[in-house]
Amino acid sequence: METVLTGITTTGTPHIGNYVGAIRPAIAASKRPGTRSFLFLADYHSLVKGRDPERLRRSTLEIAAAWLACGLDPEHVVFYRQSDVPEIMELNWILTCMTAKGLMNRAHAYKAAVAENEAAGDRDPDKGVTMGLFCYPILMAADILMFKTNKVPVGSDQIQHVEMARDIAQRFNHHYGELFVLPEAVVEEHTAILPGLDGRKMSKSYNNTIPLFAPRDELRKLIMKIKTNSQPPGEPKNPDESALFAIYRAFATPEETAAIRARYAEGIGWGEMKQILFEYIDAHLADARAEYERLIASPEEVERVLRKGAEKARAVSRPFLDEIRYAVGVRPLG
Ligand code: TRP
Repeated sequence: METVLTGITTTGTPHIGNYVGAIRPAIAASKRPGTRSFLFLADYHSLVKGRDPERLRRSTLEIAAAWLACGLDPEHVVFYRQSDVPEIMELNWILTCMTAKGLMNRAHAYKAAVAENEAAGDRDPDKGVTMGLFCYPILMAADILMFKTNKVPVGSDQIQHVEMARDIAQRFNHHYGELFVLPEAVVEEHTAILPGLDGRKMSKSYNNTIPLFAPRDELRKLIMKIKTNSQPPGEPKNPDESALFAIYRAFATPEETAAIRARYAEGIGWGEMKQILFEYIDAHLADARAEYERLIASPEEVERVLRKGAEKARAVSRPFLDEIRYAVGVRPLG
């Protein structure tokens, strides 16, 4: 049995790029036999970025509802909110005391913040850097090591964090005994990166996203805004340079994709292609959207699912933390 774990920071509303790049593959992976999956909402990580309590609560609900609506089965996946499992924060401190400051100095996110300050000519290279940002990889190590994770599916920007978790675990094991499993990052090579409205990668930071469960009218409006070139109807078009085609392909079957490719060669007009894309996505997401709307309207149901997930997670984390406490010389709670 292999343990697979991944976390989602609770910032913003899920968009179709998240769906194609993360939600859909993670749900498919959780159905593979021989794996035990943990999936959690990293709300403490999101505190590093945002300080608006209402937005944090809202984003937590939206992300949980979106994953459930897309078919995450909480009977098969341990689905929980990080802050509901206090053992993680306790482990965070123990790991903090095992982590070299020099290791954190090398973290990409921290280095990027420093580089930005230096480029702006700031006297303080650490301007705006909180200890939360600086120690972010340690909390992530606690998330991962708490559940004896073997595999961590992540985007390529997170590989370094998983490697740091491995370093920290090794150092702990060397000093206190072999308690932690050494995790490995797995980067899905085949997941599509969707273009956004302006043709750049769909990302909240570019403000070019299509929300996963935008109501029908909004979905239509957004799709009509997707950038195209000025080729008129009738002129053959290159599907491989078309954001509309890239998005269509991420949802459609290979046969449907081949048929649309042929329409590009025939010179399909942008207006018609937008209409086809809108109808396809709208139909594809209709059931999930209805379920999402139902869940958003019954937050207590989402809450129940998350609390049950936390109970399952804590059935693992409580006894393991006791072992860890004992190993470092702190009294186990029992
Ligand atoms: N840092 C991850 C991200 O921004 C989210 C995350 C937090 C995570 N803890 C984790 C991912 C543990 C994998 C494992 O995407």
